[in-house]
Order: sequence, then structure tokens, then C-alpha cells
Amino acid sequence: MNDFDYMKLALELAKKGCGFVSPNPMVGAVIVKDGRMIGSGYHEKYGSYHAERNALASCTESPAGATMYVTLEPCCHHGKQPPCVDAILEAGISRVVVGCGDPNPLVAGKGINILRKNGVLVTEHVLEEECRKLNEVFFHFIQTKHPYVVMKYAMTLDGKIATYTGASKWITSETARAHVHTQRHRYRAIMAGVGTVLADNPLLTCRMEGGRNPIRIICDTRLRTPLDSQIVQTAREVPTILATGCEEKENHLPFEKAGCQILVVPQENGHLNLSILMQLLGEQGIDSVLLEGGATLNWSALQSGIVQKVQAYIAPKLFGGEQAKSPIGGLGFPTPSDGVLLKNVTVQPLKTTKNDVSVTFSNSAQITETDLLTDFFIEGEVDNHVHRNH
Ligand SMILES: NC(=O)c1ccc[n+]([C@@H]2O[C@H](COP(=O)([O-])OP(=O)(O)OC[C@H]3O[C@@H](n4cnc5c(N)ncnc54)[C@H](OP(=O)(O)O)[C@@H]3O)[C@@H](O)[C@H]2O)c1
Repeated sequence: MNDFDYMKLALELAKKGCGFVSPNPMVGAVIVKDGRMIGSGYHEKYGSYHAERNALASCTESPAGATMYVTLEPCCHHGKQPPCVDAILEAGISRVVVGCGDPNPLVAGKGINILRKNGVLVTEHVLEEECRKLNEVFFHFIQTKHPYVVMKYAMTLDGKIATYTGASKWITSETARAHVHTQRHRYRAIMAGVGTVLADNPLLTCRMEGGRNPIRIICDTRLRTPLDSQIVQTAREVPTILATGCEEKENHLPFEKAGCQILVVPQENGHLNLSILMQLLGEQGIDSVLLEGGATLNWSALQSGIVQKVQAYIAPKLFGGEQAKSPIGGLGFPTPSDGVLLKNVTVQPLKTTKNDVSVTFSNSAQITETDLLTDFFIEGEVDNHVHRNH
């Protein structure tokens, strides 16, 4: 096992904190002595011990003289927990291998400097790209103070999110829909427009086993959300923010009584100003938003430049129909070169393995239902640089 192998282990551990540590980063640590792993740990929950302290506490023998592999630069400031560099020095760790630096201005290289000044050998940039990618939300939030926004939608291969009658249940397979719930667990909040609430009366909760519900945010300029909608009716159990342009306190009262938080946001062209909304959500410590809007909100979000990533679930189906909606509405961009470009795109087949029944066609070709139900999950980052140039 070399430095890269141990850092990979630390990365795998860090991922276990997904959904539980925000707005903190996911961090994993492994401690190795004489070629044996003697301890490991990760940041498990917001406010609890950091990965380094958990790894030290798990050591099966003295960590003095050992090497610690940690995915993010150890902290050197007092937050909810005391500085990790202190624990590393007290334990007598002689070498620290760091995945990537911590962009938090309170750390930003200072943690590594303290270790070096105290005689610890530090190796940096091991699997740096992977370590940064793991914490893309944390990096974005700490640098911009705005949440990382992921626009998610499900569509057919001909780009429809419903049939021409408006029917949309279901476009993708159960496997793809279960995958959506892992994303609702992963990001801190979920956001939709009042149009989706009126059309679908959704719950917008996380139905993944052991998952955590995202904070629900409804963009509703004139408070049209029905009081008897599932969102309002469950607002006591699941944190819910109604973002509105309506300033009249008496209109807020019934929603507040039902457990909703009202967030008044300035308007722009008759709708909410989404950039200001992101600023206000950031001030509440919301580091990430899964945007599950309809076509109207999706277009506004793209236009206002708040979207960092796009996630599309694509089903091998064709709905056709000029009136059938597509995921992004509005006027659209005038020329292909004006379009929003995605970078670092990944494609993942989501196969349905259940009911693996074979189907026989008249030409006697054998195909399995598994083949029929392979949806694709495509994820890509918005190339803001190109977008802004147009
Ligand atoms: N397949 C999928 O992935 C998927 C996901 C979600 C929804 N859908 C479908 O989409 C349909 C609903 O579409 P929709 O376009 O009406 O829903 P939407 O985009 O969720 O909601 C649109 C509404 O949001 C409000 N809003 C507040 N601030 C806004 C802003 N800055 N920009 C734009 N809108 C803002 C507007 O009303 P006010 O200004 O009056 O508040 C607007 O009418 C449903 O049929 C649903 O099934 C499909």
C-alpha cells in the first residue's frame, strides 16, 4: 500500500459523512504505523469530532511516530471543536499526508505551517482533485457564501418531462427514483416553484433508508401555496421555507402557524430575485440546494447564474408532442453558441435489476426487462465562464 492507496481509504471514509456534516466538509483520516493501519475515522456529524480526532481515538496502539493520511488540511482554529493540529502534535504523529488545502480563511495553509514548524513532515496534494471534488459544495460555499445549486430533472430521451396531457408519473424507473432520494439526502435543501406545488402537491422529502430530509424551499412570489398542500401540512415535521415577495404580515400568519418559515425576498420582473434568495439562504447556513423546479423556475435559475451543476435522469422512452413540456422553459437562448455549456460530464447507467423477466418479441429476439429499464444519470458542472461571456 502506498500514499495513494491510503488516501483512497481516507476518501471512502470521508464519504460516509455525506448528508450529515453540512455545512462542514466531509473528511476522512487513516493512521499507519510500520506498514499497518492502526486507526481510522471520519467526520460523522456536524458539530461532532473531526476525522483526525476520531482516527486518533480509534488507534489500537500508540500513534507516536505514525503517518496520518487526511483528505483535507487539518484545522488550526477553535470552531465547534478544538484545533486538530493540536491533537496531531500531542499524539506525536511524525508525518501527515494531506489531500487538499482547506479554503476556509481561518485555516488556508496555516494548519500545514503549524505542523511543519513543529517538526512534522507534511506531504501535500495526494489525490488532490478527488479530495476537492468530494467537497465541491464546501469549497463553493466558503468562497461565495451562496449555496451550491444543483438543477435536477427527469425526462424522456426526446426531452419531455410530461406527456401532452401533463401526465408525468412515472418517467423513470424505480431505480432512478431511488437514486433521486440519495441526492435529496446529499444536499441540504430542496427547492421548487409554486407551479410544481399546485400541479403535483409533492412532499419533497427524502425516502432513503437512514436518510435525512432536506429543508424545503418553495418559490412563491404571491403566497399561492395552498394551506392544505402536503408541504404546508407537514411543515412541523420537515423544515419548510416559503420564499415570497409578499410583505403583508397577516398573509404570513396562517403559514407560520402551520410551521413554515416565511422569507421575504425582493422581486425582479414580477418574480423572486433568485440571486438575493441565494444570499439569504447562505446567511442561514444552507450550503447546497437541489433544484427540483418546473420549466419556469429552471429557466430563471439558469438565467440568473445561480446553478453550478445539472443532473438529468434520462429514460429510454419517447413521449413526442409539441405541447409536451421540456425541463427548461422561458424564451431560451437565441443561438446554439449562447447555450449553457456543461463540463466534467459523467454518464452513469441506472439499471433496474428487479423483475429480471425476459420478453420475447415476434421476431424472436430475446431481450430482458433489465435492458428496457436502463435509465441514464448524466451529471455535469455549469461552465459559468462561457455562460457569462454571452
Ligand atoms: N420531470 C421533472 O423533473 C419535473 C420536476 C419538477 C416539476 N415538473 C413538472 O413541472 C410542472 C410545473 O411547472 P412550472 O413551470 O409551473 O413549475 P415551477 O417552475 O416549479 O414553478 C413556477 C412558479 O414559480 C414561481 N416563481 C417564483 N420566483 C420565480 C422566479 N424567479 N422565476 C420563475 N418562477 C418563479 C412563479 O410563480 P409566482 O411568481 O407567482 O410565485 C412560477 O409560476 C408540473 O407539471 C410538474 O410535474 C417536472
